[in-house]
Amino acid sequence: MSPKTPIYEGKAKKLFEGPEPGTLIAHYKDDATAFNNKKKGTIQGKGIINNKISEFLMSRLNDMGIPTHFIRGINMREQLVRAVDIIPLEVIVRNYAAGSFAERFGAFEGESLGSPMTEFCLKDDRLGDPFVGEDHIFAFGLAQPEEIDEIRHYALRINDFLSGLFYAHGIRLIDLKLEFGRFYEGDIELIVLADEISPDTCRLWDLNTNDKMDKDRFRRDLGKTEEAYREVARRLGVLPNVSVVETASFGETATASAKPVKKAVKAKAPAKAKAKAKAPAKAPAKAKAPAKAAAKAKPKAAPKKRK
Ligand SMILES: Nc1ncnc2c1ncn2[C@@H]1O[C@H](COP(=O)(O)OP(=O)(O)O)[C@@H](O)[C@H]1O
Ligand SMILES: [Mg+2]
Repeated sequence: MSPKTPIYEGKAKKLFEGPEPGTLIAHYKDDATAFNNKKKGTIQGKGIINNKISEFLMSRLNDMGIPTHFIRGINMREQLVRAVDIIPLEVIVRNYAAGSFAERFGAFEGESLGSPMTEFCLKDDRLGDPFVGEDHIFAFGLAQPEEIDEIRHYALRINDFLSGLFYAHGIRLIDLKLEFGRFYEGDIELIVLADEISPDTCRLWDLNTNDKMDKDRFRRDLGKTEEAYREVARRLGVLPNVSVVETASFGETATASAKPVKKAVKAKAPAKAKAKAKAPAKAPAKAKAPAKAAAKAKPKAAPKKRK
């Protein structure tokens, strides 16, 4: 088998040229980073688990008519995706206060926000992924108003769907970070969900105990990070034999280390649509009264920022 052509290496994934034009192979690594790359480590088996979880969730989203970049799984660590022009925004949907949000507004971690809210951050590690509002997005030409409408619409639908799906598996979706991209079918621009959905990009709490089952375990040195990731996979039923993750290194590519080359594709015209969200089920056991933006309560220790 000829070595794959590296396109880009990020903090959690490597991208390789796909077998057909307009496709990429996303290779999921065990590398973990937090606090804008200041903290680095490895979560054994994470690449396999995140690849399989993301594959499963993106497939379900495709099934319900939300366009995603996911085409098909390749092996334990790799999946085939459409190459998209990533919109350089981290789209965050929050159901409960946590992390940097709880810190910023002096809210309790776990306080219900009443109904889901969206936030945007500029995806730029050098700048520390700063918070941006729509005026900034439009002024800097990061996305068009119609694209932002469509992104909000999808983000809230995705959050709604995933909240229910995780809930059915005894997991509360506290918040999540999404990335969207532009994909062209002829002259028509489509906004599609890209990147990944995994315990790296979602805050997931056990419904009964409020135990964290996501990257906060790594961020905050809570221990048992590998176990938490495996437990999410086990509950979703995506790795029937999770013990495989403890030893497996298969799916590793034999190629030389991928260096940043250039991201895929180019931007063009905008798209459209709009949004409406539903409130989450109910507050977790620990949570107090709904946060009215700036709550009086003192925040619990929270990380400076998400990845
Ligand atoms: N379908 C896609 N097409 C093009 N780029 C993508 C796609 N999905 C994800 N990416 C990009 O792949 C890069 C590698 O992923 P990752 O390692 O998670 O990066 P990061 O270090 O930014 O978190 C990211 O820049 C992400 O935006
Ligand atoms: Mg990433």
